[in-house]
Amino acid sequence: MRKPIIAGNWKMHKTIRESLELVNGLTRELTGVTDRAEVVVCPPFTALTVAADALLDSGIGLGAQNLFWEKQGAFTGEVSAAMLVDAGCQYVIIGHSERRGLFGETNEGVNRKLKAALAVKLIPIVCVGETLMEREKNLTFTVVEEQLVKGLAGIGAEEMKRTVIAYEPVWAIGTGRTATPKQAEEVHAFIRTRLARIFDDAVAGTVRIQYGGSVKPDNIAELMNEEDIDGALVGGASLTIESFSAIVRGAIA
Ligand code: PGA
Repeated sequence: MRKPIIAGNWKMHKTIRESLELVNGLTRELTGVTDRAEVVVCPPFTALTVAADALLDSGIGLGAQNLFWEKQGAFTGEVSAAMLVDAGCQYVIIGHSERRGLFGETNEGVNRKLKAALAVKLIPIVCVGETLMEREKNLTFTVVEEQLVKGLAGIGAEEMKRTVIAYEPVWAIGTGRTATPKQAEEVHAFIRTRLARIFDDAVAGTVRIQYGGSVKPDNIAELMNEEDIDGALVGGASLTIESFSAIVRGAIA
């Protein structure tokens, strides 16, 4: 069976001190829970090393929110995959819709980042999802399919099994407007079918697919009830000890 994976994407929030408070609180609240769910926090780059120290032996994983695909060089402002490992990360979010929409990331760039992450054994969380306009034009499956086919090009079966997909409809991110469990499941099932076609049934059955977009303590349980929803990528509600630990508990209840 697929182990649920709940990840908190802190985005551009939290100083080092605030990050420590949150991480220490989560470590306290979630002891004994992490054998039933994989729990991951993704603080900003500046707080990664201190968070890594605070999370030692906690069972909670650490992820970054982005990386650059080159190993090193004259790339001002960028951070490599190996640097993330060096900072204590085991995970990295790739192709979040804010990266795509605000910073011009493309499916080809996502693919290069994915390969760089896999090469250093980071667990990638690859985000896909349609905008409201695309949904209204009935382009949801077309857009998600293109994101998968281009984003995952050239990835081996074993690498794919380690990769997590996050389906995040852009219209549900930070808007309070969650996809209904049925709307989400429809796309999750589509993603799994597409993965089976690109790879095979065994790979598709192994890959965890998270839902993201206004996940809250009071909607996590019904989302997790759906067959192809294996966890959540949580933004706003991952910023307090109370709401994020309630979501983790709700996911395994
Ligand atoms: P949200 O963000 O939970 O605040 O909607 C989700 C995300 O962007 O990963």
